[in-house]
Amino acid sequence: MAGATDVATMIGSVPFFSGLDAKKRKSIASQGKEMSYKSGDNVVTEGTMGVGFYLILDGKAEVRKASKVMATLGPGQFFGEMSLIDEMPRSADVVAVTPTKCWVLSSWSFASIMKANPEVALMMLKEVVKRLRAAQSSPTS
Ligand code: CMP
Repeated sequence: MAGATDVATMIGSVPFFSGLDAKKRKSIASQGKEMSYKSGDNVVTEGTMGVGFYLILDGKAEVRKASKVMATLGPGQFFGEMSLIDEMPRSADVVAVTPTKCWVLSSWSFASIMKANPEVALMMLKEVVKRLRAAQSSPTS
């Protein structure tokens, strides 16, 4: 398992956290924990309440809704933010399609990091808007 310093290095290469200095990244890294999933594992399940935010460190996961693949996410990409932001059930399943390692933050840590680092919140918002545009432009059937 990677230590906080290794995770800090990894999250430093993620656009999401790249604007933060090394000390801040290390402090943020120490607030999450690493979790491993087997290929086929449901990391989050549509309709359940969300308790975590996930950043993929290694591997690949599919976002699936009504058996449609909405997106395929890989290292440096995140998921699970929607349920934490609006406190509504998970909007989709996210399934590991290879052995996958994630860095997972509790909802409480997620909220406190977003409040303390508006630049991180803005980067996340940009990615969420990008996903919304992609979903709007994809065929509906
Ligand atoms: P959440 O609703 O908490 O749990 C499922 C996650 O899948 C969701 O947060 C987003 O992170 C992600 N997700 C949902 N819809 C899409 C989409 N259209 N494109 C990419 N990711 C999505």
